[in-house]
Amino acid sequence: MAGVEAAGGGREAGSPRPLPGDGEAAIIAQSPPAGTAMSRLESMIRRLEAQVRCLDAAMAAIAGVPGVVLELGLGNGRTFDHLRERLGDREILVFERHLIAHPACVPDDEFLFLGNLEDTLPPLMSRLEGRVVLIHADLGTAAERYPLSLEKLIAATFPRLLRRDGIVLTDKPLADAGLAPMALPEGVGSGRYHMYRPEPGPGRGKAAPR
Ligand SMILES: C[S@@+](CC[C@H](N)C(=O)[O-])C[C@H]1O[C@@H](n2cnc3c(N)ncnc32)[C@H](O)[C@@H]1O
Repeated sequence: MAGVEAAGGGREAGSPRPLPGDGEAAIIAQSPPAGTAMSRLESMIRRLEAQVRCLDAAMAAIAGVPGVVLELGLGNGRTFDHLRERLGDREILVFERHLIAHPACVPDDEFLFLGNLEDTLPPLMSRLEGRVVLIHADLGTAAERYPLSLEKLIAATFPRLLRRDGIVLTDKPLADAGLAPMALPEGVGSGRYHMYRPEPGPGRGKAAPR
């Protein structure tokens, strides 16, 4: 992504502050001029800003907590690359229907599950139940919600997969999935990205080491 810093490295008046701790990533969409609608370009930049901020917040929250990470929707491989660069030795299992990723961002075979998530995730439930610390689902298209088949799969699997202190990030909102919304990181507009925790329930409560 290209930066929009003013020449000389300073920020233009009124532009949002850079992402904390990352001088190079001082992107960032400024508000459209008064009376101008937000363009699709600006909207996409905001979505990517929200995505990276949520990923970074989630990774900070799970630091030191054991567990597997699931990347649902490899796509080009950008968010997978971000996760693996920052998570070190953490096991990251990646799911994708069609392999179209940048060649440098393709996981090793043993970590890559090709095919429809509806077919590839259920067989792993017994192996992964209660062991997942972070699920990042970036499966969407321009539609406002996931298809019904995915929503049903998510409700049936995510709460079972997650540790009690696990986190879910999604590009689309989830309802009735047994998950409770979390506050978004500072600077992320409501609805741009979504963060959830498992809803506390019987047998759920304190996080226990696994
Ligand atoms: C928006 S892209 C992911 C972009 C990716 N996070 C990145 O940073 O490059 C969404 C991906 O999800 C995949 N996808 C959507 N629905 C799926 C499903 N039911 N099963 C498996 N993959 C799916 C699509 O094939 C697509 O590559």
